Amino acid sequence: MPAQPPRNDRFLRALRREPVDCTPVWLMRQAGRYLPEYRATRREAGSFLAMAKNPELACEVTLQPLRRFPLDAAILFSDILTVPDAMGLGLYFVEGEGPKFEHPIRSAADIDRLGVPDMETDLRYVMDAVRTIRRELDGSVPLIGFSGSPWTLACYMVEGGGSDNYGRVKSLALNEPAAMHRLLSVVTDAVIAYLRAQHQAGAQALQVFDTWGGVLSPAMYREFSLRYLKRIAAELPRGDGAERAPLILFGKGNAPYVADLAASGAEAVGVDWTIELGDAARAVGGRAALQGNLDPVTLYAQPEAIRREVGRALDSYRDGNGGSREGHVFNLGHGMSPDMDPDHVAALVQAVHELSAR
Ligand code: CP3
Repeated sequence: MPAQPPRNDRFLRALRREPVDCTPVWLMRQAGRYLPEYRATRREAGSFLAMAKNPELACEVTLQPLRRFPLDAAILFSDILTVPDAMGLGLYFVEGEGPKFEHPIRSAADIDRLGVPDMETDLRYVMDAVRTIRRELDGSVPLIGFSGSPWTLACYMVEGGGSDNYGRVKSLALNEPAAMHRLLSVVTDAVIAYLRAQHQAGAQALQVFDTWGGVLSPAMYREFSLRYLKRIAAELPRGDGAERAPLILFGKGNAPYVADLAASGAEAVGVDWTIELGDAARAVGGRAALQGNLDPVTLYAQPEAIRREVGRALDSYRDGNGGSREGHVFNLGHGMSPDMDPDHVAALVQAVHELSAR
């Protein structure tokens, strides 16, 4: 992959805490059902998984939001559950019920059978999608690769799908902590190999989604989630100097742990909307960049309200960061929903760029 920097590099510059002309913005789940062109491609493919496993179609839906809005980064269209699928758990989707596994983890023996999948065979379709998207982006904006966090992947692997209270996975952690650590350890090895392979295939930044870290008590968060996020930050090979792909640790409900995450060695921390961005910036203390954090539900409000809330978040960041806008990547605090209005997304992106222009 040629080492040419992208033409719009304000996203990577912000992650390196370098000066930018305005604050960069991308949105979690920026490709998805709220776009009619996404629904058309999905219909053509037959299912979400068929689309994600076809590199050309995955590339097409990755690019769709960039054709509509002047976003500052693309994110690989895939899913966090590709990794447990490649570990043999058998991912499938039930309409209206979300993801499920045919062979969830139900015993220590199930854990001992797990191994790290081969990235260029078992997960070849993901690496091919990364290579295809990089080619089609042609240097216009950087491409973000991603993975689930070990804890979040373990939640789905043990629960067998989504859960109301995470009873099975928390019970495993409480009753058989050694088995739980063996599970988290092999999943962490797989996550590191997966992110490294995406980087080698062309991903220019890497985000870990710790969607369910916030359901743990502080003591359990530190033992079963933070510990493995720190291992990823320390051990993931991601290049050096200007070539280094920044690592973003995003977590829902991670507000109490922002300082720990900033000290992990990751280049950036992503937060949800339950913390004031200025307070998050003070907790980070200049050790990392910060990504966030508009409540996604703000997108249901009128464009004037969206603009006002964008302004508030930008100002809050600056107040907590010694008066400077550097080191901030604007995003939602979590993903978009299928019934959101594309025109409101346009208003949000425009507001970020205009209100932060130097
Ligand atoms: O952000 C992007 O645009 C990139 C694409 C992306 C998807 N999933 C596409 C997707 C990313 C980054 C993910 C990550 C993901 N997947 C997470 C972590 C992010 C977060 O929300 O915290 C989680 C927990 C999953 C697991 C998952 N995949 C669920 C719970 C669902 C069902 C959701 C639903 O709305 O039905 C999926 C499927 C999925 N992944 C969809 C998309 C666009 C919807 C599939 C469809 O078209 O029906």
